[in-house]
Amino acid sequence: MCGIIGYVGEQSALDVTLGGLRRLEYRGYDSAGIAVVGAGALRVVRRAGKLSNLEKALAETDDGAVVGEAMAGTTGMGHTRWATHGGPTDTNAHPHTDCTGAIAVIHNGVIENFTALRSELFGAGHELASETDTEVVAHLLEAELGRPGAGELAALAAAEGGDGGRHPLTEAVRRVCQRLSGSFTLVVLHRDFPDVVVGARRNSPLVVGLGAGETFLASDVAAFIAHTRQALEIGQDQIVEARRDGVRIIDFAGEPVEGRPYHVDWDASAAEKGGYPYFMLKEISEQPAVLADTLRGRLSSDGAIVLDEERLSGEDFRDIDKVFIVACGTAYHAGLIAKYAIEHWTRLPCEVEMASEFRYRDPVLDRSTLVVAISQSGETLDTLMAVKHAREQKARVLAICNTNGSTIPRESDAVLYTRCGPEVGVAATKTFLGQVAACLLVGLFLAQARGILYGDEVGAYVEKLQRMPDLVARTLGTVGPVRELARSLAGARTVLFLGRHVGYPVALEGALKLKELAYMHAEGFPAGELKHGPIALVEQGVPVVVVVPSPRGRAVLHDKVVSNIQEVRARGARTIVIAEEGDHLVEPFADHLIRVPATPSLFAPLVTTIPLQVFACELALARGLDVDQPRNLAKSVTVE
Ligand code: AGP
Repeated sequence: MCGIIGYVGEQSALDVTLGGLRRLEYRGYDSAGIAVVGAGALRVVRRAGKLSNLEKALAETDDGAVVGEAMAGTTGMGHTRWATHGGPTDTNAHPHTDCTGAIAVIHNGVIENFTALRSELFGAGHELASETDTEVVAHLLEAELGRPGAGELAALAAAEGGDGGRHPLTEAVRRVCQRLSGSFTLVVLHRDFPDVVVGARRNSPLVVGLGAGETFLASDVAAFIAHTRQALEIGQDQIVEARRDGVRIIDFAGEPVEGRPYHVDWDASAAEKGGYPYFMLKEISEQPAVLADTLRGRLSSDGAIVLDEERLSGEDFRDIDKVFIVACGTAYHAGLIAKYAIEHWTRLPCEVEMASEFRYRDPVLDRSTLVVAISQSGETLDTLMAVKHAREQKARVLAICNTNGSTIPRESDAVLYTRCGPEVGVAATKTFLGQVAACLLVGLFLAQARGILYGDEVGAYVEKLQRMPDLVARTLGTVGPVRELARSLAGARTVLFLGRHVGYPVALEGALKLKELAYMHAEGFPAGELKHGPIALVEQGVPVVVVVPSPRGRAVLHDKVVSNIQEVRARGARTIVIAEEGDHLVEPFADHLIRVPATPSLFAPLVTTIPLQVFACELALARGLDVDQPRNLAKSVTVE
């Protein structure tokens, strides 16, 4: 939610920040803006709409000069916005400036006390132009830096560039941060301090990129991956002062702190389209390799499942008597699948909860509760707040995450990374498969830690899991007819999805993909629930997608779903049936039959999800929609 890049170095700040914004645009695309400091001036250009509008504005001429060419300087910042306060207009686009035009601010998050701060600023004679919460920060900084009697700041200013002095802009940011409530990543530039960019964060992402003679601040590493793979994590409530030769970090109390350095294990090409017209198509096709990466090296030589980070003892895991899974959206669907595996393998009760609801209902948690937080980005604020609540109640937290250096893993006691590489398409695809595989590994890990499954049993499951990438590849090889079918349904008004057991979360995920990509009414139901109401939605020609469980699993469940198909077909539905190879019983009732390879029951979502991803993507394309950047959405939701 909102992409941020700050830069100080030797290259053109305009080029670097624009390049960074191209890679960050998936985080929000309501407006974009850039600020550059150089030749004693701070220049800001911002436009409503996608980044291409900003690029057009930079190419225009003003007073005989090309706007972008006038933005010379090697210190700058850029922002791509997902609107919260104030509509997506030029005026509400970031960067925001103070009354003097010397200070520019970009922001991700929500400043919850902005109304009170705004009144205070109006009272003190400041002029605020936008409807945003962000703009107050520029004016608060102006007040801090220009405050009469701010002798301390003046003294600090004199020390600028010296080794011991804290930069006045850094100090002003620190003081302003103490006045803000809510969540924020801020990056600040000042016309009179061209060698420094200051960033700050609370409950919102900020990473540092350390290059040779250049330093980057960004919402995620994608922004600077073309320049450096050396990164530094910035903790909660910390401020980073970036210069060409590195950074100084302090906390909001002013105490110096260290960032945690790490190396980004993917390169710029991983975040390119690689010949595909859309990232989503590329990411769907990467799934066999991604799944193999998630599963690689998970079994130690003594047959134990290996997590990536473990700050808990074997005893801690043995003492667990209840599991909660918290997540949002697609990650929540992965959690619903995990419940089946965790309860089956560990015999522990497992509840799955939308992270946004979790802490507000005062769940019963204690030190023997394990909370599993699933998040691709590791920055989803709803999930992060659920994690914090769980830890306050002394519960243990295990994170399943795709993003090294992000906040949720840092706040957790144990971590399993999904290793899917960057996912740029806003709709989650490959990371869902990674999350499902990781959830299965967590189930096995817990069963082993609790002594319910022996090493050889766990090894046998892992071996079967390791065959799944090949089955995913096979599934991808047979989805051609799904594309044709999707195109033929481009005019449908509604699509229903039914499933049972682990097929139910798959049905939910199929419906979510269709909603977010094709802007169509789509709903997923447990097939058995249909007759309790939703069947009233079925009328002549309504497409109903049914995810059929394996007849080799619990046959009774399979037979019931076959009955459900007949029930909707009898009422005019056009049935689209996803069934295992060799399942002949479904054939008479399927208007369209999509085959997937046979798998163990709990692993089936790894293949049954794939035709649904392709279906939604192709249907959206047939409707002429942008599948990488669906309307109103953003990749990483860092506001509650
Ligand atoms: C799914 O396609 C969505 N982009 C969305 O539901 C997403 O899964 C959700 O916002 C959670 O994100 P996270 O995994 O980064 O926490």
